Order: sequence, then C-alpha cells, then structure tokens
Amino acid sequence: MRISLVSWFIFSLFIATFFSMAAISVSGQCQREQQQLLLGFKNSLNSSLSAKLGTWNQGTDCCSWDGITCDTSGRVIQLDLSSQRLSGETNNSNSLFRLRHLQTLKLAHNTQLGGQLPESIGNLGQLTWIELWSCKFTGPIPKTLEKLKRLIHLDFSHNNFFGPVPKTLEKLTQLIYLDFSYNSFSGPLPSFASLRNLSELILARNQLNGPILSTNWSSLPNLVSLDLRRNSFSGTVPPTLFQSESLKEMALAQNQFSGGFGEVEGEVSSQLEVIDLNHNGLEGQFPMFVFEIKGLRYLSLSWNKFSGVIPLNAFQKLKNLSSLDLSYNNMSVDSTFTNLPFPDVYELNLASCNLTKFPEFLKNLSFLQDLDLSNNRIHGQIPSWIWTPHLFHLNLSLNFLVELERASNMSPYMGVLDLHGNQFQGKIPFFPPDVRYLDYSNNNFSSVIPSEIGDFLNSCDFISLAGNNFHGSIPESLCSNFHLAVIDLSNNSLSGSIPHCLLTQMSMWLGVLNLKQNNLSGIISDTFSEHCGLQTLDLNQNRLGGKVPKSLANCRMLEVLDLGNNQIEDTFPCHLNSTSELRVLVLRSNNFRGDVNCAANTTWPMLQIIDLASNSFSGKLPQGLLMTWNSMKANKFEPYSPHLRYEFPLLTGIYFQDSVRVTMKGLELDLVKIQTFFTSIDFSSNKFEGHIPEAIGDFKALYLLNLSNNALTGPVPSFLGNLPKLEALDLSNNHLVGQIPLQLANLNFLSFLNLSNNELKERIPLGTQIQSFSEASFGNNAGLCGRPLEVQCDSPPVSKDGPSNSGTGKHVNWNFVSVEIGFVCGIGAVILPLMFCKRWRIGYYKCTDGVVYKFFPKLDPRNRTRKTISHWTPGRRL
Ligand SMILES: *[C@@H]1O[C@H](CO)[C@@H](O)[C@H](O)[C@H]1NC(C)=O
Ligand SMILES: *[C@@H]1O[C@H](CO)[C@@H](O)[C@H](O)[C@H]1NC(C)=O
Ligand SMILES: *[C@@H]1O[C@H](CO)[C@@H](O)[C@H](O)[C@H]1NC(C)=O
Ligand SMILES: *[C@@H]1O[C@H](CO)[C@@H](O)[C@H](O)[C@H]1NC(C)=O
Ligand SMILES: *[C@@H]1O[C@H](CO)[C@@H](O)[C@H](O)[C@H]1NC(C)=O
Ligand SMILES: *[C@@H]1O[C@H](CO)[C@@H](O)[C@H](O)[C@H]1NC(C)=O
Ligand SMILES: *[C@@H]1O[C@H](CO)[C@@H](O)[C@H](O)[C@H]1NC(C)=O
Ligand SMILES: *[C@@H]1O[C@H](CO)[C@@H](O)[C@H](O)[C@H]1NC(C)=O
Ligand SMILES: *[C@@H]1O[C@H](CO)[C@@H](O)[C@H](O)[C@H]1NC(C)=O
Ligand SMILES: *[C@@H]1O[C@H](CO)[C@@H](O)[C@H](O)[C@H]1NC(C)=O
Repeated sequence: MRISLVSWFIFSLFIATFFSMAAISVSGQCQREQQQLLLGFKNSLNSSLSAKLGTWNQGTDCCSWDGITCDTSGRVIQLDLSSQRLSGETNNSNSLFRLRHLQTLKLAHNTQLGGQLPESIGNLGQLTWIELWSCKFTGPIPKTLEKLKRLIHLDFSHNNFFGPVPKTLEKLTQLIYLDFSYNSFSGPLPSFASLRNLSELILARNQLNGPILSTNWSSLPNLVSLDLRRNSFSGTVPPTLFQSESLKEMALAQNQFSGGFGEVEGEVSSQLEVIDLNHNGLEGQFPMFVFEIKGLRYLSLSWNKFSGVIPLNAFQKLKNLSSLDLSYNNMSVDSTFTNLPFPDVYELNLASCNLTKFPEFLKNLSFLQDLDLSNNRIHGQIPSWIWTPHLFHLNLSLNFLVELERASNMSPYMGVLDLHGNQFQGKIPFFPPDVRYLDYSNNNFSSVIPSEIGDFLNSCDFISLAGNNFHGSIPESLCSNFHLAVIDLSNNSLSGSIPHCLLTQMSMWLGVLNLKQNNLSGIISDTFSEHCGLQTLDLNQNRLGGKVPKSLANCRMLEVLDLGNNQIEDTFPCHLNSTSELRVLVLRSNNFRGDVNCAANTTWPMLQIIDLASNSFSGKLPQGLLMTWNSMKANKFEPYSPHLRYEFPLLTGIYFQDSVRVTMKGLELDLVKIQTFFTSIDFSSNKFEGHIPEAIGDFKALYLLNLSNNALTGPVPSFLGNLPKLEALDLSNNHLVGQIPLQLANLNFLSFLNLSNNELKERIPLGTQIQSFSEASFGNNAGLCGRPLEVQCDSPPVSKDGPSNSGTGKHVNWNFVSVEIGFVCGIGAVILPLMFCKRWRIGYYKCTDGVVYKFFPKLDPRNRTRKTISHWTPGRRL
C-alpha cells in the first residue's frame, strides 16, 4: 500500500515536471512587463462574467493564463478572449495596445465591448489576425490601421463603425480575408486592386454607394467570394466579375444595380457557383449566358425587371443547380416541355412568373424542400404529387386554387404551408402534421372552425384563418397548444365570447392575438397571465363590453392595443402604465368617459398612434400626460427606420407585420407597414374642453392631429405652425376664437385642414398652402374673411414673406382620419439570407449566431429554448 502511494507520488511529480518543462519549452516564462500590460488590460474592463479572465492572477505565469499564447521568450503573441461577456471601452492609453509582439487578437462576440477603435492599434505591427466581430465598436476606422502591413485576416463585422471604407486598406497587401459587414460604412468603394492575395471580401449590410468599377475584379487572382449585399451600390454589374477565373460566390443582392448584361454575353469563362442578384433594378432580356456557367449551384435573380420568356428546359444544362429563384420579374416561365430532366434543386421559387399550371417536372424533384409558386395564375386543384417527400415550405398563395388533393406519402416535415388568397370553399381541407406555419387566410371558407383544431396544431407557431367566412365560436382547443405565437382569426363571422383560457393559459406564449372584425360579444376576461407576452392585441370591430381588464397590465411587452369599435364602458386605462413599449393605442368608438389624466403622469414614452375618437371623454386635454410621449417629439429622419412587427421566437425569418389603416373620405388606405416614425393623435368627437395644450407644440414628429367635434375654447395656438411634419389638421366644430395665426402658413406638408364651425375671425393668412384649401375648410365661423372665402376683408393683407405657392396643395379632402390596425405577414425574404448564410463557406458560426441575433434581437423574448428546426437544415448544402 505504502509503496504504491510513494510510487504514485513520484509518478505524479514526474508528470508535473514533465508538463511544466514542456510548457516552458513551448511558450517560455511570461515576461514581467507583458504580465503587467495584460493585467492593465484586464483592469480596464468589466470582466466579472468572464471565465478566462478569472484565471489571470498576479501570482501565476501569464503564459499559462487562459486565452494567452506566448512565444519561446515569454512574449505574448496571441490573445483570444472571444465570447467572454467583457464590457467596457478601450482608449488610446489601454495597455492592450502596448503588447507589441501580438500576432493574433481575438475579442469577438463581446457585445458590450467597444468604443472608438483607438489609433494606438497601429502600434501592433506584428498583427496578422484581428477578429472584433459582434462587439460594440463605433466611429471611423483609425488611419493607423494601415501600419498593420502583415494583416492576413481582418474581421470588424457586426459593430457600429461608420465613415468611409478607408482607401489606405490598399496598403494591407497580405490580406486574405476582409469582413466589414453589418456596420454603417458609407461612401464609395475604394479600389482593392493591390490586394492580390484577397480571397474573401465581405462588405454586406452597410450604406456604401456608387459603382463598383474601381476594381478590375478579374485581376484579383485569388478572389473567391465577394459579398456586397444590402448596400446602395449602383451602376451596372461589371463584366469583369464574370471573367474572373477564381470567383465562386458573387453576392450583389439588395442594391440598386441597373442596366442589362449586354456586355457580359459571350465573354463568360466563369467558375461561379453562386450568383445572387435579387432586389436590384436589372433589366433587359433574361441573361441567357448563365446557362454556360456549368458549375452554378445557386441562382437568384428575383425582384428585378428582367423580361421575356424563359425556357425552363435550358436549366438542364446546370446539372449542379440546387437553388433557383426567378420570382417577381417581368418574365413568363415556359414550363411546357416534359421530356428533359430538371436539375435536382431543393429550392425553387417561381413566384409571379405567369404560370398557369403546375409544371410537370416537379414530380421528379425528390429533394425539393422549398417551393414557391405564389402569385401566378394557376387554377383548379393542387395535385397530390406536389407533396414531394422532403417538402418543408410550400407557398401557393395568390392563385386561383379551389381544391387540394392529399397524398398518402406526404412529407413528414411539412413546416410552412401558405395557401392564402385562393378560392378554397367549405371546410378547412387538412392540417399537415407538425406544421409550424399555416395560412389559410383570404379564401372563401365558410364553416365552423373544427372544435379539435388545437390538436391538429401541435407544433404550430402561426395560424391564420383571417378573411374568410368562418362562423360559430372560437374553439377552446386552441388553448391547449403552447406553441402558438400568432393567432389571426380576424375578418370572419365568429361569435360568442373570447375563451378565457386563451388569455389565461396562452398569453404567456402568445405574441399576437388578432380577432378584429368578428361578432364577438361578452367581456374581455380579466385573466391575463402574469407572464403575459402579448405584443399585439387587436379586438377592433366586435361587440365586446365590460372594462379594460386590470390584468392586461401584465402584458408588459404590449406594443399594439386596439379595442376600437366595441361597447366597452370604462375610464381612461391609466393602469396600463407599465406597458412601456406601447406604440399604438386605439379606443375609438366605445363608451369611455371621464378625463384623460393619469395621476403619476407616467405613461407611454414610445406611443406613436393614439385614437380616442368617438367616446365621451371630458375635461381638459391632458398636458401632463402629453408631455411624456417622447416619440412624438423626436424629429429625426430615419431612412432605415424599421417597421413595427412581431418576430417569431422559434421560426426565425418569419415575421408578422402590424399595419395601420388610415380612413379618408370615401377611401380606405392600408398603410401596410407602420413605420416607427409615423405618429398621429385623434381625440375627435369627445367632450374635451379648455385650451389646446402647449405640449402639442413639441410634437415635431406628428403627422395627423384631429381634435374636431369637442368643446375646445381659446385661440388656435401659433405653436401648431411649428410641427414640420403635419399633414392633416382638423380643429373643426369647437369654440375656438380669435385669428388664424400667421404661423400656420409654415405648414408645408399640410394637405388637409379643417377649421370650420368655430368662432374664428379676421383675415385668413396668406401663405404656402392655406389658400389652396377649399372654402369648406373655413366655413361657418364668426368673421373670417379673405381667400378662399368669398368675403372680402376691410383691412389690407399682411402677408408672410415670399410668394405663396398655393398651387402645390395636394387637395386631399380628408373628412376624418381614423386609424386601425391590420396585419401582413412576411415570409421567405428573411429565411433566404439565413439559408444562404449556411451555404457560405466561411462564417457559418457567425451567421447562425451573430447575424441571426443582430437581426432578431427579440429572438427569445420569453426564455424559450432556442430550437433550430432540425429538418430545416438539409444534407445538401453548398
Ligand atoms: C482610458 O480608459 C481607462 C479605463 O478604461 C480610464 O481610466 C482612463 O481615464 C481613460 N483615458 C482616457 C484618456 O480617456
Ligand atoms: C460589471 O458587469 C456586471 C454584469 O453586467 C454588472 O452587474 C456590474 O455592475 C458591472 N460592474 C461595474 C463596475 O460596472
Ligand atoms: C501573398 O501572395 C504572394 C504571392 O502571390 C505570396 O508570396 C505571399 O506569401 C502571400 N501572402 C500570404 C500571407 O499568403
Ligand atoms: C482586367 O484584368 C484582366 C487580367 O489582369 C485583363 O485581362 C483585363 O483586360 C482587365 N480588364 C479591364 C476592363 O481592365
Ligand atoms: C458539380 O459538382 C460536383 C461535386 O461537387 C463536381 O465534382 C463537379 O465538377 C461539378 N460540376 C461542374 C460542371 O462544375
Ligand atoms: C414587361 O414585358 C413586356 C413584354 O414581355 C413589355 O411589353 C413591358 O413593357 C414590360 N414591362 C415592364 C414594366 O418592364
Ligand atoms: C402571361 O402569359 C400570357 C399568355 O399565357 C401572355 O399573354 C402575357 O403577355 C404574359 N404576361 C407577361 C407579363 O409576360
Ligand atoms: C421523371 O422521371 C421518370 C423516371 O425516373 C422519367 O421517365 C420522366 O421522364 C421524368 N420526367 C421529367 C419531367 O423529368
Ligand atoms: C402607474 O400608475 C399607478 C397609479 O395609477 C402608480 O401608482 C404607479 O406608480 C404607476 N407606475 C409607473 C411605472 O409609473
Ligand atoms: C402632471 O402634470 C401636470 C401638468 O404638468 C402637473 O400639474 C401635475 O402636478 C403632474 N402630476 C404629477 C404627479 O407629477
């Protein structure tokens, strides 16, 4: 026993010695100065969450610290602290930038680490490899970067860098990999002609513009992949891209390229495997030369303006083709041939291609997963052979289909089925097992919703039966389904009450509940779950009574609440003050009463659209409350402003978009997307009294203001002239007195104005738009005079400077403006880039974690396990 212990001791001593010697011989003992620099770096950050930095202690050899590699003389040559949840900002004096021997610097995926990239990075002249992707760096690229002449790999993607892509990059002649994607770089593309070793150039998702002709792309002998998607590049697609002997992947989608391919034709000697040109302005005949690029695997030309007839049989030349997207051009697809095999694609998108029947060759595509034939002119029955064994996503929406033939051997993976906008009648034909997304909206179905519907939708995230003629009550079985994130039953004839369980059990999972335009009655039960995750609740146009439930305040993520056109009897819902995300509140046409004041003055800083019209609200307009609506005040132009939408936690890439309806006289207009800067206030047809509050003068972002049909007194305030965006202003039917202020002439965008039925007097101001409105805009006041009224004024006119350009008035005669919420779904457009990502040779990890995360920050709002759809990732990828 003893002997064995001793020998064990000796043995372990030996092992320990061996390994420490080995360590020294590989990496050397850390130099004291290097150790101090590293500790200085550590101390400049908040590293409390980092496992690696936990091992960085004064007492130990710094070459043994996690994330550090030294050379034989104990100098730090590699530092890898990727994904360490570091936070903080680096500056010029950070000791990191004195580690002069550093060759590799990896700080990627520390989303709270950033600041300006300091100039002192130029001190690290030995660097060959930098990875800073998915951090929080901002500002322009420092000029000193050009000193890092040994750089081979440079990845700054997914940060907030802005400014130009520096010309001086041309000095980094060793570069093989350059990735600046997902930043805010702007300006033209510099020349990359000197980067002879460059293999991958990735600048996607920036704001770069101008032509891309400054580089002769075929003279870069090693360029394999060029990704310029999602910028604003313009001009023609350079022919040199098709003459390169190395280029395999060319991704220019979502830019503003124009023109045809005339110059390219006949000069193709291409190795291209991926051509991605969707969402540009390319035109002319379909580019036949693509059929000579024999190695092509991925071809996307959708959303351009190509015209002509494409003979689908030409594609048989492209034996390796696995994904083809020709949707939304001005082309007709000729699918009449039958005798030739079509390449075995897994993705085929022929939306809006003037098809009149299902192409026969589809029968033989045994690997097909995605098929989009939407927006064509296909009539009749869906044949059983459409259900090929691997089909996951089938979109046949917007055709003239009436019937569906089921197959015995259906794909068990059928995840997305979209049949909206056809002419199906009677009962719902079937529910594919395990379907995730099911859209039967806008058909002619007329039946009750099957009471066991919930059982069919075991793993469904999205169900829409909207815009049909379903009647009867809402089945309670829907509640048994914990996946459902969106339920849209709007625009049917459903009656009865809203099942309690829908709000109790499901609201935790449910993001969107749309029951608009039915005949639902009863009350909205006060049973919203404490973990309510609803973002949109739309109950407009039903016959619901009772009060606004107190427990609705549990829905802290609520962005859209529409209770308009019901019979609710309540006071203003101050108790919803915890829903700080609320952007749209519609209470129109109910029996609300009392004043609109909340004790704490704290309500909804994000509020953009509020519609309280046609109730019995009274008292003064709430100055204190109005002052808290910050998003009405922001007067910023956001060219890339996002739209309000609900993103699916599980089905990445499919989203549900809220839309808004503006009702004008005799015309209803669905603004399909609620842009997050659109704002409007409608308080009309209530019993409000007192003056128009000053807070409105701060609403620089306001587009529509309707205070008509109240009992407001006092003058028309001059601050209304300071609302630069205002397009419609209705103050009619009040008791406003005095003159119309001259400042109203400043409202350049005003296209609707109604001041009639007040007690206004004196001259109507002369100015930009005012005279272009009709007499009715000013009618029935105490003593107004001057154009456009017939009544002449006694006193001479006081004009604002400059001529009036009254001719530009748009003359939109909005009777009143009301706002309703509607929905539109987007699908596909976002799935594709993701799939595309997976096919990208490099950056797979970033695609699945970085891109998706940035794109869908709310990916997992309720801490569900993030699942990827396993059968969605097929075996056959590039
Ligand atoms: C640089 O950052 C460190 C810590 O992060 C801070 O103590 C120092 O004041 C900063 N220096 C400058 C010039 O901002
Ligand atoms: C460091 O980060 C953690 C986690 O984010 C945070 O709780 C802590 O307050 C931060 N410490 C400092 C000093 O900022
Ligand atoms: C760049 O290419 C040149 C020759 O084309 C070669 O000598 C050099 O080693 C390459 N650099 C790298 C980092 O591969
Ligand atoms: C681009 O470079 C290639 C190879 O270096 C050359 O043959 C071709 O003429 C050049 N094209 C243009 C338009 O400069
Ligand atoms: C098609 O793909 C196969 C396998 O990847 C490859 O060997 C072949 O060369 C490709 N065909 C063409 C024409 O590029
Ligand atoms: C679409 O193509 C037809 C001919 O196929 C042509 O007459 C028409 O002008 C094209 N439309 C557009 C918008 O390009
Ligand atoms: C669609 O096809 C029909 C014939 O089937 C043809 O008359 C029409 O011009 C085509 N439309 C377009 C846009 O090519
Ligand atoms: C489909 O496959 C069968 C047998 O594999 C073949 O006879 C037929 O010609 C093919 N049809 C098409 C349209 O490719
Ligand atoms: C919400 O309003 C209640 C009173 O109605 C008040 O007690 C509470 O502090 C408010 N909450 C917030 C977050 O302002
Ligand atoms: C709310 O705002 C009004 C008007 O500014 C003010 O008179 C009132 O004191 C405020 N109430 C609170 C609780 O801050």
